[in-house]
Amino acid sequence: MQTHKILLDTDPGIDDFFAMLLLADAQNVELCGVTAVAGNQVMDKIVRNARGIAALLGWTCPVAAGAAGPMCLPQITAGEVHGDTGLGHFPLPAPTAPLDARPAWELLYEQARALDGALEVLAIGPLTNLAVAFLAHPDLPRYLRRIVVMGGSTEWGNRGAYGEFNFYVDPHAAAVVFGAGVPIDMVGLNVTMQTGISDAEFDGIARLVGETGRAYSELLDFYRNIYRDNDLGFQIVAMHDSLAAALLMDEGVLDLRPAAVRIDCSPGPCRGRSLVDFASQTPNARVAVAVDRPRFWELVLHSLRRAQSDFRIQKSDVRC
Ligand code: BDR
Ligand code: CA
Repeated sequence: MQTHKILLDTDPGIDDFFAMLLLADAQNVELCGVTAVAGNQVMDKIVRNARGIAALLGWTCPVAAGAAGPMCLPQITAGEVHGDTGLGHFPLPAPTAPLDARPAWELLYEQARALDGALEVLAIGPLTNLAVAFLAHPDLPRYLRRIVVMGGSTEWGNRGAYGEFNFYVDPHAAAVVFGAGVPIDMVGLNVTMQTGISDAEFDGIARLVGETGRAYSELLDFYRNIYRDNDLGFQIVAMHDSLAAALLMDEGVLDLRPAAVRIDCSPGPCRGRSLVDFASQTPNARVAVAVDRPRFWELVLHSLRRAQSDFRIQKSDVRC
């Protein structure tokens, strides 16, 4: 089995959290670093969440803070989906390791160079940290094997008519990343929205959990209720970031097609839109077009079972 050496760039975020549970359960993933980017919440909350989750999962890799906002545009967060804390009311342990002294983009660059072309980046937040890394280090592309991105869509958006949140928040960063010349796999809303949790599946998860697992179940419940209460236009709760993580564990979960992807940076209704041309002779990415839903859920459920037994919530853990 091929081992993927991964740097995770994230803005946790409830679905980011479940993506991290998947990575913790992956036999073929070696985590080389976690970099935090403002997105679902503001930077101090995102950093606290990233460090707390790393402590919960027993991760010993460096965790670094990155961009506190987009490259050119005012900050946008998604507290209405992920809660004021970014993680609902989940009880997080205190961090067990100091925050890495390097900014996210320097950690990324140094890990990429050290691994000499073997590093893959899993990017599940706005792409600001990656864009800064490419702009600061023009030789970075040669040291990266692949970037797996949760973002964009071949169709509609979840921010505005066409913008997907991660690309909408920082379209300029997304444009830099898609222009960098590194192989990219784009896992967009067109497939993540097919991973939604039905009531039956949700109840299946709830049945899985005991004392400790209840916290995981409550977090999912929070995410589901937020979608319902705010009438966000979706009847389901999509595991966006988990699907991108799952691709690293099992290439068979997604059908990917070569395409040329450009990002619309104009203000107005097309902000953040990913323009995906499957007919292009000069593709810069593979774009996910279909998902094997049962195969994906098998991975998710396995990670949740593992979480309820291995990553235990302690009485001292503070509810956000
Ligand atoms: C993306 O937006 C964020 O709110 C989620 O964490 C995910 O990365 C989905 O559009
Ligand atoms: Ca995210």
